[in-house]
Amino acid sequence: MAAVTLLRSWAAPARLLAGTLHARTTSIGAWQHCCSRRNFSNSRILVELDEATGVAVLKMKNPPVNSMSLEFLTEFSITLEKLEMDRGCRGVILTSVVPKIFSAGLDITEMCGKSAEHCAAFWRALQEFWIKLYGSNMMTVAAINGSSPAGGCLMAMCCDYRIMADSPKFAIGLNETQLGIVAPFWFKDVMSNVIGNRMTEQSLQLGQMFPAPEALKIGLVDQLVPEDKVESAAAAVVTQWLKVPDHARQLTKSMMRKQYVERLVSQREADINNFVSFITRDSIQKSLQVQRERYPDSWYRDITSNKKFFSLAATYHGQIMGMIVAEIKSRTKVHKEDGDILASSFSGDTQVAYILSLGVVKEFRKQGIGSLLLESLKSHITSTAQDHCKALYLHVLTTNSSAIRFYENRHFHQHHYLPCYYSIRGVLQDAYTYVLYLNGGHPPWTVIYPLWNFVCCTPFCLTQGMVFCLPYSAICC
Ligand SMILES: CC(C)(COP(=O)(O)OP(=O)(O)OC[C@H]1O[C@@H](n2cnc3c(N)ncnc32)[C@H](O)[C@@H]1OP(=O)(O)O)[C@@H](O)C(=O)NCCC(=O)NCCS
Repeated sequence: MAAVTLLRSWAAPARLLAGTLHARTTSIGAWQHCCSRRNFSNSRILVELDEATGVAVLKMKNPPVNSMSLEFLTEFSITLEKLEMDRGCRGVILTSVVPKIFSAGLDITEMCGKSAEHCAAFWRALQEFWIKLYGSNMMTVAAINGSSPAGGCLMAMCCDYRIMADSPKFAIGLNETQLGIVAPFWFKDVMSNVIGNRMTEQSLQLGQMFPAPEALKIGLVDQLVPEDKVESAAAAVVTQWLKVPDHARQLTKSMMRKQYVERLVSQREADINNFVSFITRDSIQKSLQVQRERYPDSWYRDITSNKKFFSLAATYHGQIMGMIVAEIKSRTKVHKEDGDILASSFSGDTQVAYILSLGVVKEFRKQGIGSLLLESLKSHITSTAQDHCKALYLHVLTTNSSAIRFYENRHFHQHHYLPCYYSIRGVLQDAYTYVLYLNGGHPPWTVIYPLWNFVCCTPFCLTQGMVFCLPYSAICC
């Protein structure tokens, strides 16, 4: 497999149309006055209104990825309603306080394994959010300071103008079909109004995500600016738009959008019923479950930017075929069950490397890719810069015989038997710890290690109460 590439990363004017606000108790904070600014905050949204300019900056603060949960949507709609009613507010800038993420879109957990009533309430809240934002009389700008898939893209498209951070790392699009779900007609209407019917048809079917430069090319965003200038550029645009007399701008906006808002308002109940019957199907639930169990975006962010991770992907024609991720940490930071990976004679700052994930796409296995990835990690931690790293270890399900053979054939030793270590879809499963000593590292009781290893792998450990029932965590299988 010569063509495989290894990629390393370190590292209250009249509204256009009002919907009915979802009745739900949400903790709403109070306005705080400061000079010409009024700040307002609830648990997921922060608003700074500059009374001198009449412009409010609405900052989403729902980490890790500003997902649009029922609570979030409700708070958003209430906040927008409040600003709409405020005569001092004429324009709104939407942005995110979460680095690198504008909004990751709808919160899958609100649709996965939930009752039909819950799904209906969630969808109603999303409709309300859309009606309020798309139908707003205020001038709205999306300051897209990070990635913005699905509902995040919808939010941006509802605004009058979109400014995105100029980085190919950030992408935007309605990728619902990629998740096995279908964007409703009102998502389609908005997209079609922004980028045209042909482009909408293609990108909706393919579930396309557009890196910022491409998004600019197709008109999905209006402007790209450096990441640290997104908010100031948005402020300049609002100022420009607000020079137009309000009544003329608002009536024009209404003329362009009213029919789309009315269309949803007149079909709300049917749209909710459609959504609920679709989302509660077994096949759709299974597909959502798969999405839910994938690693969250923040994990990918961490492994590619945080120096404590070693992450390496094997690619072929731009597709990832295999990946290894390891965390290098001091021995004092290992989990309790692995506290004896190294003999106690090693100092606390001695390092160990923990393989969080090693996997190769099925069709490409048994061609040496797994070995190549593992060897690359080994050579990294045996290089002079890392020679204080004394052990490489991992956890593997006791039933994963091919992985166990793979590691044993590469001189890893079984170190512990960990009953009930993983909970996978609610089922507890046993695991082993495997370890390879490097750079002079060794376990406690080096001389009798093979015997000790044998003892630890017998049910004797169970009788010693070594039961680790951990929540589902990053498993490497
Ligand atoms: C474990 C895993 C990563 C190994 O990846 P891989 O790319 O198949 O690994 P390799 O191809 O380097 O080696 C696998 C076997 O194929 C053999 N092999 C490699 N090239 C070969 C070739 N050209 N012809 C025949 N056999 C070959 C290797 O000798 C090795 O055999 P061994 O395990 O008996 O020593 C892979 O099976 C996997 O992704 N499994 C699912 C995820 C998982 O379980 N991860 C490990 C838990 S952390």
